[in-house]
Amino acid sequence: MTDLAEIEEKIAEYAAKGYEVPSKDMIKTPEQIAGIRAASKINTAVLDAVADKIKVGMSTDDINTIVYECTLSHGAIPAPLNYEGFPKSVCTSINEEICHGIPDPNVILKNGDIVNVDVTTFYKGFYGDASRMFMLGKVNPQKKNLVLITKECLRRGVESAKPWRFIGDIGAAVSALAHKHGYSVVKEFGGHGVGLEMHEEPFISHVGKKNTGMLLVPGMVFTIEPMINMGRPDLYVDSANDWTAVTEDGKPSAQWEHTILITENGQEILTY
Ligand code: MF3
Ligand code: CO
Ligand code: CO
Repeated sequence: MTDLAEIEEKIAEYAAKGYEVPSKDMIKTPEQIAGIRAASKINTAVLDAVADKIKVGMSTDDINTIVYECTLSHGAIPAPLNYEGFPKSVCTSINEEICHGIPDPNVILKNGDIVNVDVTTFYKGFYGDASRMFMLGKVNPQKKNLVLITKECLRRGVESAKPWRFIGDIGAAVSALAHKHGYSVVKEFGGHGVGLEMHEEPFISHVGKKNTGMLLVPGMVFTIEPMINMGRPDLYVDSANDWTAVTEDGKPSAQWEHTILITENGQEILTY
């Protein structure tokens, strides 16, 4: 087990060479990691409950009810509720919605829809954050491919997140695969440190260059959450609610998210 003093010494060496390095509070203590792990476990249970029940004909507000009730049943709190004025317990983003869709009793899941369900869980002082895509009924092959390639973008991003590598490696891995399939990558939103707050530093861009950006160090906890568009990357925020990001060209967008921990040897997905 590498101890903290050793890690800090190594960080100082990188800093002296001019590399961007994490601040002290970006490196979680074992106690904090245990807390984030517990919140993340509940997060997974909540998404599993959604996976179990989601179906055509249900409203996005029904998803909100599942998330709210399941979260409370575990003694946790749905972090989005009242976060900067967000009115619901979960984000539900359908088809051309990129992220921050607001559950609505009038929005009914239809055959062929793809929907992102993004759950953030607060438990005993700590946060876990993850999202999945769900495909409703018979989804056309193009949309299905977008969903599956985006999942693979997340997997490759996670795999590239290693100690003594760089944040830019993550965006490089994600965007290489997306672009290979003719898709575009959303730049305005990205992953983020998570744990003691829902959103912490650093920002994790899903576009990037290998060997650039902040050094990754054991004990860092952050999300990777690529938003991949079938068409152009441009977006607007729905003026009706000031939250929901939508593709400018109206083409579909997909997203998957995990909370991960950088370990001594690689990384661990906490939201499994
Ligand atoms: N879960 C989202 C994320 O991945 C944040 C949701 S903020 C909310 O960062 F207010 F919209 F809920
Ligand atoms: Co999220
Ligand atoms: Co997030």
